[in-house]
Amino acid sequence: MLVSAKEMLTKAKAGHYAVGQFNINNLEWTKAALLTAQECNSPIILGVSEGAGKYMTGFKTVAAMVKAMIETLGITVPVALHLDHGSYDGALACIDAGFSSVMFDGSHYGIEENIQKTKEIIAIAHSKGISVEAEVGAIGGEEDGVIGNGEVADPDECKMIADLGVDMLAAGIGNIHGKYPANWAGLNFDVLAKIQEKTGIMPLVLHGGTGIPEEMIKKAISLGVSKINVNTECQLSFAAATRKYIEEGKDLQGKGFDPRKLLAPGFEAIKATIKEKMELFGSVNKA
Ligand code: 13P
Repeated sequence: MLVSAKEMLTKAKAGHYAVGQFNINNLEWTKAALLTAQECNSPIILGVSEGAGKYMTGFKTVAAMVKAMIETLGITVPVALHLDHGSYDGALACIDAGFSSVMFDGSHYGIEENIQKTKEIIAIAHSKGISVEAEVGAIGGEEDGVIGNGEVADPDECKMIADLGVDMLAAGIGNIHGKYPANWAGLNFDVLAKIQEKTGIMPLVLHGGTGIPEEMIKKAISLGVSKINVNTECQLSFAAATRKYIEEGKDLQGKGFDPRKLLAPGFEAIKATIKEKMELFGSVNKA
């Protein structure tokens, strides 16, 4: 069932667990994510970056694929189709294309401009029942060409954005896209606690979910994080399983070169990673 992310995140915040956003890249990713959510009886958010949207030939293709798969696979758990780190124009395009949720990432603008643009996106999205994520501060590292300097969010600015009526708020707290460096200082829980204090029931979003130690994930959830984004970790699992298949020469045996066989171990690896994260985030049986 394709739904906005609002209700599932409100429930997660109240129930002290988090819903995973798993970024999709192609048909295998989408099918793996949807089937795992159904098997785990968990809500799920499918994240699509602008780069991945383009790769899949556009947001309309993505929306059509997701809707058709939900129907043909008999997916009954709540599924949100969400633009990840969207530009202003990207958010409008996804609203048009049939996404049920969008992130407008105005974190690289000054706070006044971020507020103004976020407000405009909220008005348009909410008139169509589409949920909106905003960002304050910045997520470090790079994702699909979106580069952040890792600026830690100002809790007062978070409150200003939360008061606009956004449905979820991503705040930079030392989190980074991609693998964490060995000298990573960890998440800034003092800032997270202050943001939570100022923004109350607003579901908070933790980007850069790959490689954050379990204890930190649990502490972040206890401090109001109710959506956690995972992208790189599924890519690493997929790549490792595919590498193993090829290194074992299985593509050279029988019809092992058939893409349905070649991509099967990677597909199963994505499923296993998503299941592991859903268990850690506490969203299993919360559909
Ligand atoms: P990772 O690639 O580090 O898991 O981050 C995903 C993310 O935050 C998507 O916005």
